[in-house]
Amino acid sequence: MKKVIVFCGILAAVVLAAGGLEAQENAALGVMLNHYAARNFAAGEVGRADLERVIQAGIRSPSASNRQPWRFTVVRTQSLARRIVPNIAEGNVLIVISAQGDGRTNGREILDCGLAAESMYLAAQALGLGSRIYTGPIDAVNSQLKAELGLPQGHSAVVLVRVGRLASQADAASAASPRRAADETVVYK
Ligand SMILES: Cc1cc2nc3c(=O)[nH]c(=O)nc-3n(C[C@H](O)[C@H](O)[C@H](O)COP(=O)(O)O)c2cc1C
Repeated sequence: MKKVIVFCGILAAVVLAAGGLEAQENAALGVMLNHYAARNFAAGEVGRADLERVIQAGIRSPSASNRQPWRFTVVRTQSLARRIVPNIAEGNVLIVISAQGDGRTNGREILDCGLAAESMYLAAQALGLGSRIYTGPIDAVNSQLKAELGLPQGHSAVVLVRVGRLASQADAASAASPRRAADETVVYK
């Protein structure tokens, strides 16, 4: 009898663990299928714990030969952040991802930094925050702000991730941009 109870206990634990894993997978897929580039940020602090989770997601990203070429410069000073993205809301954080090279011809590093940007962008949304990726301000950052940002010698900024509080969930409906259909973009061989 005791053996039957132990067996049932183990079986229940395995079933629960499998269910938990499935729920986790669905949560990850949910973020990947429902994310959007936030437009309406609200003023308000991004909590330290959330910010650290977002940064960890970047650090944990894959990179070619696991070289992890990135540096994450986390800009919380509003006056500096506004010089990069002028309409920044109070409390928004800009994460400047840089790597060795000119930011234009170092293709491998650019891809790695792009993956880290995507990880942080998705992690922020998984935490209920708004996020947006930017490359528009990169040339200005590299020509004017490298020293002020303290980028490592030889680094150039590649991409930025903005993280902040969302003004409202209505942002999702208004900002959702259409995607090209699978029959236009996918080929099976
Ligand atoms: C590599 C990259 C660069 C981007 N650069 C900018 C930018 O400079 N300014 C901006 O407002 N949005 C920028 N975006 C956000 C895109 O415009 C946005 O992800 C895209 O239009 C899809 O929008 P949606 O997620 O709301 O559907 C960038 C996105 C990516 C992936």
